[in-house]
Amino acid sequence: MSKDGEGSLKDTLESIRLEGVDAIQHADDEESLEKARVRFLGRSGLLARALSQLRNVPPDERPDTGRTANLVKQTLETTLELKVDELHSLIEGLEDSRTDLTLPGRTEWTGGVHPVTTVIDEICDIFGELGFTRAAGPEVETDWHNFTALNIPLDHPAADMHDTFYLADGVLLRTHTSPVQARVMLGNDPPVRILAPGMVFRRDPYDASHAPAFEQVEGLAVDEGIDFVEFRAAIDYFVHRFFGRSTRTRFRPSYFPFTEPSAEVDVSCMVCEGSGCATCKRTGWVEIMGSGMVNPAVFEAVGYDAEKYTGYAFGMGPARIAMLRYRIPDIRLLYEGDIGFLEQFA
Ligand code: PHE
Repeated sequence: MSKDGEGSLKDTLESIRLEGVDAIQHADDEESLEKARVRFLGRSGLLARALSQLRNVPPDERPDTGRTANLVKQTLETTLELKVDELHSLIEGLEDSRTDLTLPGRTEWTGGVHPVTTVIDEICDIFGELGFTRAAGPEVETDWHNFTALNIPLDHPAADMHDTFYLADGVLLRTHTSPVQARVMLGNDPPVRILAPGMVFRRDPYDASHAPAFEQVEGLAVDEGIDFVEFRAAIDYFVHRFFGRSTRTRFRPSYFPFTEPSAEVDVSCMVCEGSGCATCKRTGWVEIMGSGMVNPAVFEAVGYDAEKYTGYAFGMGPARIAMLRYRIPDIRLLYEGDIGFLEQFA
């Protein structure tokens, strides 16, 4: 055999070493390990076949090639022994820990969107179709934005319903999202069409239907020529898209200092479809928001021309709406962070 021939036997041995080690180390059970053993170290395996070529190597080079062959054999055998030990301790470990390999695997907790957030997002999406964009304001407000700009004198009885937590003189936790109306109008010229979702705070009890901190979604539209008809059309559009086409809307006269005229918006009860049940207190209607045409006094407070512009505003409680939609009997369920409860909505 030529020099080349001897070179190729050493090359062959080298690739048997590389491939053999790789196959043994990657065997993940006894069966595949045995296959690797037979293929590389078996009686008619790759190594045995290479050794049978040794007699074709020139006599003076045989010792060197023979040593290489022995090294390859030892390497493969040691790798094999280590692998056998590894597989055994793996199996023993599983038996020791009494792991029940037939149990189903644990699914990974992926989280989900809170039902109130779902409702807020849907409200914003639906009004988004009417050209409203999202706005935000701070939860810590001045009493000027929270009351004065909205035509609520601090000594007015309307301020009583909004008794709140004062953090410093004239600084409080906002009692509604309406101060965002003032902030948006102070910072932007008309036309304005915004929705402002966010947390509000009141000195309310924590019971089945009240929470001292809860979400509101504020809406405000200001432009030339907006009238009550456009206002009703927008609310009807929202109600039909959110609650379904068969839901009816009712405007009930009400009072808010920052709207004139003001109305509470009721929708026909989605539980009994208007015939009267516990959810709607046998009236067939449930209230979903306070609303009205923007009071010109508010335009004056923020520097808008009250002769030129009109608009409407509304404020709703998405937690109440989530309770109606998902038939949740107690508002506290929405704020206790109980995964078992919240998972139903994920
Ligand atoms: N801010 C009022 C409240 O919290 C709701 C409201 C908003 C009413 C906008 C009219 C217009 O009760």
